[in-house]
Amino acid sequence: MSFRMADVHLMEKIVSLVKRRGFVFPGSEIYGGLAGTYDYGPLGVELRHNIKQHFWNKFIAERDDVYGMSAAILMPERVWEASGHSTSFADPMVECNICHEQMRADQPETLAEHEATHKGKKVEWSNSTPFNLLVPTRLGASEKSATTAYLRGEITQGVQVNFKNVLDSMHPKLPFGIGQIGKAFRNEIAPRDFLFRQREFEQMELQYYIRPDEEEGKKQFEYWKQFAFDWYTSLGINKDHLRLRQHASDERAHYAKDAWDIEYNSPMGWKEAWGIHHRGDWDLRRHQEYSGVSMEYADSETGEKILPWDIECSGGVDRAVLFVLLDAYREDEIGGEVRNYLAFHPRIAPIKAAVFPLLKNKPELVEKAREVRKELQKVHPAIAWDDNGNIGKRYRRQDEIGTPFCVTIDFDTLGEKPELKDTVTLRHRDSGEQERLTIPEAAERIREAIS
Ligand code: GAP
Repeated sequence: MSFRMADVHLMEKIVSLVKRRGFVFPGSEIYGGLAGTYDYGPLGVELRHNIKQHFWNKFIAERDDVYGMSAAILMPERVWEASGHSTSFADPMVECNICHEQMRADQPETLAEHEATHKGKKVEWSNSTPFNLLVPTRLGASEKSATTAYLRGEITQGVQVNFKNVLDSMHPKLPFGIGQIGKAFRNEIAPRDFLFRQREFEQMELQYYIRPDEEEGKKQFEYWKQFAFDWYTSLGINKDHLRLRQHASDERAHYAKDAWDIEYNSPMGWKEAWGIHHRGDWDLRRHQEYSGVSMEYADSETGEKILPWDIECSGGVDRAVLFVLLDAYREDEIGGEVRNYLAFHPRIAPIKAAVFPLLKNKPELVEKAREVRKELQKVHPAIAWDDNGNIGKRYRRQDEIGTPFCVTIDFDTLGEKPELKDTVTLRHRDSGEQERLTIPEAAERIREAIS
């Protein structure tokens, strides 16, 4: 049995918690919403930012062989003709003969759910036709001069069309990579499962260029598969809830020679979180052909000219947010009270610690607490302040949003017991345990936990 079957309402609990506590809201909600779009609130934007920053650090900034970039979202039609998306980036679609709703033909469960809504009437589905997922838009003021551009369907193409620019400006030696984070858009026939399948979403990707050689290809593919898997677990997701699965040949995208997914064991079953694709020289060759610009790499020692192969790591930011939330949700009992909390890894928690003056009407406590907060903010800026209600209530509020530490400033901090002067109480979210520490020790605990 899937571990998630233990809590069939987990997804609903998460959707409700993240709205109530300011993580994620339905897109354009006051106008009835726009299917397949979500807006990130004050805590969600921090969580998402921390995940992206962790990707950027590990895949790009800490490495000598990877460069970062950020390409435009709008790209002309020709790019998508070259990349093959104009013809091959499609899902099979069928239409219901009763209500004319169009649905994905390759999702039998969804089709069965739809049939059930017609209560006993026999649904006839039309023949399946391919439905292209690219999102077009018109640019230019007059109808005559306007051109069709596309909101990119994958962020990859922004890197591929700049391959030559990075070569000419940075002079990298193979193997090397180009990484990017940014929005992608797909006209999904049936956006569903909250952040899982949206029409506007964010991707984090690495295109890693290598010599066109089978052995090198295998070696690099294995390396990046493991690297991506280890990175995913470093978000704090339980390793047993993740697996690697190879695509069958009829499942692979048009550009892929080999493809593996990192999947997460979600309430909807095992679902794709991340793809590792062997794109060969598909993109560079096609852009060379369609643009007329050489995409060749010249070896500086031998002068040999080659078209490199590309091993791609491609992850969805929003899916990482969703899976991190699902994996972190806990319910337990503490001090005789039921509580729910998010056991985020401190590295991605939106708030790293919250500082509480024991009483808000004692100016000396408030002043000292503000001083402590400033000290802790030298470790990380996301140190919150809460002086509202009793300490137990403040703990619950922070637990529910996944804050790993709470730091309380009391009369002992001010020296009521002289041996405790300038010490604070540091309380751990998951265990509820408390320690009495000096302020530098508390700062060190937080520094260690988020590193
Ligand atoms: N450049 C390769 C590429 O785009 P993909 O498997 O189509 O490959 C990569 O997408 C990742 O982007 C997926 O593993 C998933 O995490 C995310 N993703 C794809 N479609 C999505 C959607 N409609 N909503 C949210 N995330 C999506």
